[in-house]
Amino acid sequence: MRVLVTGGTGYIGSTAVEILLGQGFEISILDDCSMGHADTVPAGVRFIQGSLLNAAEVADALAGCDAVMHFAGKSLVGESVEKPDLYHSVNVDGTRILLDEMRKQSITKIVFSSSAATYGEPKVVPILETAETNPTNPYGATKLAIDHMITKEASEHGISAASLRYFNVAGALKADRGWLAERHNPETHLIPNVLCSTQANPVKIFGTDWPTADGTCIRDYVHVIDLIDAHIKALNSLGAAGHEIYNLGSGSGYSVREVVKAASDAIGHQIPFVDSPRRAGDPAVLIADISKAKRMLAWEPTRDMTTMVADTLNSMA
Ligand code: UFG
Repeated sequence: MRVLVTGGTGYIGSTAVEILLGQGFEISILDDCSMGHADTVPAGVRFIQGSLLNAAEVADALAGCDAVMHFAGKSLVGESVEKPDLYHSVNVDGTRILLDEMRKQSITKIVFSSSAATYGEPKVVPILETAETNPTNPYGATKLAIDHMITKEASEHGISAASLRYFNVAGALKADRGWLAERHNPETHLIPNVLCSTQANPVKIFGTDWPTADGTCIRDYVHVIDLIDAHIKALNSLGAAGHEIYNLGSGSGYSVREVVKAASDAIGHQIPFVDSPRRAGDPAVLIADISKAKRMLAWEPTRDMTTMVADTLNSMA
């Protein structure tokens, strides 16, 4: 089976490419490399450096494919607040073009990278897939709009689709050609920031007065390798027309202080940090209910926080 991996040179997409290849899938990649890196593309892969917004490039990338894993898109919450039109264009309009071109080529299977950001501030945790969706930023709104678009495409045109709502993705995979890891500049995510912390430039803890046991935000972290395992299980589950939505997390939460402690334990000394004001737009607690993915995909995340921190640390060495 040949899979088109959109966004296949980014952190999560390149990890998917590596694991899919290892399992015998043939791969095509469509990526404009605006955030990703062409040096992650392995030998034997068909690589189209192009944009989701260019229908001819999308059509070219889809040629000969049986299914799509759709990772491409803008994904920084803060940037989405400053540039909502850009986010709508790349994420929503880009996916519209992808679905249209898939239809023209009779490709009916898609696994989409959705986000916990579709839920916004949850009323109940752990969060079920049936929870209300009230995104609090344009990034989450675009992911929700795409989920709705895919539902409509499934009912009107019979595609078979899965949207995977990621919570906090962490860790890294070592490929023969090096680590496939987060390479953001500037980095905004907690675990890489904690691991880069120095006395001169300590990591900021955004908010210590949240309504949680230690006053810091709680998030649900999932290792990128477990995340891709769920994608492959979701892909293998496709066939009948329809659209299923699955949460992907670990089902348990870590506070920011607990992440700092786990990273300090991994490094062997206390990582410097500075208590700081809250970051705008952060919900206090986000934890996934992952029972649907466990039940329907027979998926179970197996890598814990210690492994996520260790792999991220090794990838930065
Ligand atoms: N945090 C810090 N200091 C930092 C970075 C983060 O204290 O330097 C805190 C944040 O305030 C938050 C937690 O650590 O409480 C996690 O923050 P991240 O930036 O690592 O991740 P988010 O939870 O903000 O965002 C993640 C994904 C988004 C997605 C969102 C879903 O990165 O793409 O989950 O809600 F939208």
